[in-house]
Amino acid sequence: MCGIVGYLGEKNAENTLLEGLKRLEYRGYDSAGIAIIKNGKVTSRKAVGKIVNLEKKINGKNMDAGIGISHTRWATHGKPTEENAHPHLSCDGNIAVVHNGIIENYQALREELKKKGHKFVSETDSEVLAHLIEEFYKNDFKRAVCEALKLVEGTYGIAVIAGDKPQEIIVARKGSPLVLGIGENENFVASDVAAILGYTKQVVYLNDGEIAKITKNNFEITDLDEKKIDSEISEIEWSLEESQKGGHDHFMLKEIMEQPKVIVDSTRGRLMPDEGTVRLGGLEAVEEKLRKIERIIILACGTARYAGLVGEYMMEEYAEIPVEVEFASEFRYRKPILDERTAVIAISQSGETADTLAAIREAKRKGALTLGIVNVVGSTIARETDAGVYNHAGPEIAVASTKAFTSQLIVLTLMTVLLGRQRKMSEVTGRRIIEEIEKLPKKIEKILGAKDDIKKLAKKYADYPNFMYLGRKYCFPLAEEGALKLKEISYIHSEGFAAGEMKHGSIALIDEDFPVFAIAPKDSVYEKNISNIEEIRARMGKIIILTTEGNKEAEKIADDVIYIPKTLEMLTPILGVVPLQLFAYYISCFRGLDVDKPRNLAKSVTVE
Ligand code: M6R
Repeated sequence: MCGIVGYLGEKNAENTLLEGLKRLEYRGYDSAGIAIIKNGKVTSRKAVGKIVNLEKKINGKNMDAGIGISHTRWATHGKPTEENAHPHLSCDGNIAVVHNGIIENYQALREELKKKGHKFVSETDSEVLAHLIEEFYKNDFKRAVCEALKLVEGTYGIAVIAGDKPQEIIVARKGSPLVLGIGENENFVASDVAAILGYTKQVVYLNDGEIAKITKNNFEITDLDEKKIDSEISEIEWSLEESQKGGHDHFMLKEIMEQPKVIVDSTRGRLMPDEGTVRLGGLEAVEEKLRKIERIIILACGTARYAGLVGEYMMEEYAEIPVEVEFASEFRYRKPILDERTAVIAISQSGETADTLAAIREAKRKGALTLGIVNVVGSTIARETDAGVYNHAGPEIAVASTKAFTSQLIVLTLMTVLLGRQRKMSEVTGRRIIEEIEKLPKKIEKILGAKDDIKKLAKKYADYPNFMYLGRKYCFPLAEEGALKLKEISYIHSEGFAAGEMKHGSIALIDEDFPVFAIAPKDSVYEKNISNIEEIRARMGKIIILTTEGNKEAEKIADDVIYIPKTLEMLTPILGVVPLQLFAYYISCFRGLDVDKPRNLAKSVTVE
């Protein structure tokens, strides 16, 4: 989604901002823009499409400014045009604003401002901010921003500059993330740490309702009434190298290949094999409360929700706690019934997904214990939940989530062991799960070693217009995840179903042009899966079976077979997802698509 980068210091602001914007490209956008101050005047440049188009506009006209703000826009109100791209300027051109989020009362504000003589040039909700600040600006710039924001309904992360205040950037946040980057003789602001990782690792996360004035050597945070707020400088753990492609053609492939290491990183220091349990530092403070909970609700979106569905099966089977998994986007519009015996777990890679955040806030209001499984350290969900566990998967840049999913499954397994051992799970069972977790990295390496076979298979199937994925029990959510991976990066229509549900309608779709990807490891539901596969075979459907090594029977009934090593049934999705990711990845490559930045999608969905 939209990205913000601001800079103030001794470097060339245009180059620094362009560099920062490029690091946010993965989030998805359709236009970009920049505004700098030189000799007391704001100059802005914008371009539709890729950042390189903006770069071309700046090349040769680089003003070597020391201050500026910039933005990548993912269109919500109005098409991706130069007029609608940010920064937006006030009528006198003195004020420039970049904005993430949605101003819900923008129509009313726009009408009022028009009556006062303001001229609008875009169709966006964001432009009202520039005019509103202009309306309040006498000589105290920050005050004007505060007054303007008091009239705004909706969400925002903003950065604002004024030509007559060339030493400061004002930034503010409500519902859309912003982080200050603290350097030497320079400071930054960004909507995502990835933008500033190459310059500084010292950051301050802004909270909702906070506004900051940033100068070259200082920053000062207050609320909108300008009451001072103390802040804490944190250190980013991720390195710049981790956020680069490392020799791979795409971030997605790099992130798929990283999964053996991700398992090691997300379990490091957490396994206690001798005692058949785990240690999760982030949950220690609430361990006693966890002992008493009687119900769990998992809230998440997209891939994270599929991880949650696997978690549901695990926690019910091994910890014997009833679990429900909800679409985060639906949760607060129902009448959720919660109490202090309910724990709500939000799963989110980015920790900024608007729907998940809103759901967790609703759960908190209703008195539930809120926990997070979050990858991005310091993100809003990580900060707003009562306790939580970080994935430690490192930065995930490709829009299609891969290593975050496997690390979510690992964390859910660890939580299952913790909750199970607090209840009836024996030490032997706990130990058995831990032993199997420790074997996963090698097993994933083996699957990755056969990636060329999956590439060949992808070539064979790349031109089919439809796909169906089937699975049962632990592999039902995997079928949904496989279908999501394929559709989001290859634009092939694909659906994931619980195998047993297929014959209640969807089987009508099957013919020789509608391949089925059946996930059928040798587990407790294998025989049932085979019956469903036979039903498809009888209707001439092409079949790919993903099954356990050594299962030669699969070759007799399938057109193609992919093998994965044996593991515990509950851990099968961690192995099974890898071929599904590779299959989708290679199909997208064969179709010549933008694998890392599929159309219409954004890495982190920060609007409802
Ligand atoms: O950052 P989050 O984990 O909260 O994101 C949730 C979904 O938007 C995300 O998993 C999405 O479905 C992925 N792009 C799928 O690959």
